Amino acid sequence: MSKGHRSGSAAAYRADRDNRTSYEVLFEFRGASYDRAMRLFPDARREEFLLPIGRSNLPPGATVADVPSHGGYLARYLPRGCRWLGHEPCAVFGHGAAGDDRGLLPLPWEDDAVDAALSVAGVHHVEDKVSLFRELARVVRPGGRFVLADVHEASDAARFLDGWVDAHNSTGHDGLFLGEHTLDELARAGWRVLSAERVGYHWRFASLEDMGEFCHGLFDLRASTPEETVRAIDEELGIDRLEDGVGMRWELYMVVAEPAAPLVD
Ligand SMILES: C[S@@+](CC[C@H](N)C(=O)[O-])C[C@H]1O[C@@H](n2cnc3c(N)ncnc32)[C@H](O)[C@@H]1O
Repeated sequence: MSKGHRSGSAAAYRADRDNRTSYEVLFEFRGASYDRAMRLFPDARREEFLLPIGRSNLPPGATVADVPSHGGYLARYLPRGCRWLGHEPCAVFGHGAAGDDRGLLPLPWEDDAVDAALSVAGVHHVEDKVSLFRELARVVRPGGRFVLADVHEASDAARFLDGWVDAHNSTGHDGLFLGEHTLDELARAGWRVLSAERVGYHWRFASLEDMGEFCHGLFDLRASTPEETVRAIDEELGIDRLEDGVGMRWELYMVVAEPAAPLVD
């Protein structure tokens, strides 16, 4: 990866990367900054969690898997009475999620253990998506749901992540984004796709200043200022005035699936 200028701890990152090349290393490197931003602005991505939850057809008291969960930010948006099970490959940022630095797979749950699995904004870091989808098919009970919500390869969000973020953050960004191919991968892994749509919504803030601070931290944008970041967001994604603040346009591809017999490869 040649990711332009890197400040401060870039040398430490490169040294670590030379020994361990997986994306998990990148997240261990910038995960703390991500977590700080999520805790400072816990409602900024509210819609991003509520939209997949709304598609997951949860029965009362459902057990819900969240993979990869990072700090478990989705949990607080689940309906009352649900049981949240998180799994995070970078255990140091798990905050109650299962994980011990062994990586993503296998998932740490029994067969048919959950009513629904949700995966928000993490799969674009996973190379072998079919193996993850197969494991999710193992742990979701018959009649349950898998809701995958991640960046579509043709979206402004993908261009922003692999463009502005890639050029200005501590580790670079090289997304393995979703597309129509994802639907075939799901079918091969034992899922029947019920719906797949690109859904636009906002990341919400009280002010442009908050938007800049959040994105600066979330993406660890060490080579830009929060003000420059807001200008780039305005140009590349769009910003809307909302009744109670400002909204940064964002979009995820939301795919809903239920367990089915896997096709033979
Ligand atoms: C953008 S965060 C999304 C986390 C969380 N679902 C959320 O919405 O905030 C990306 C996630 O991918 C995880 N990750 C990093 N490398 C990974 C890998 N090789 N396989 C699976 N997940 C990985 C990170 O640890 C992190 O949890």
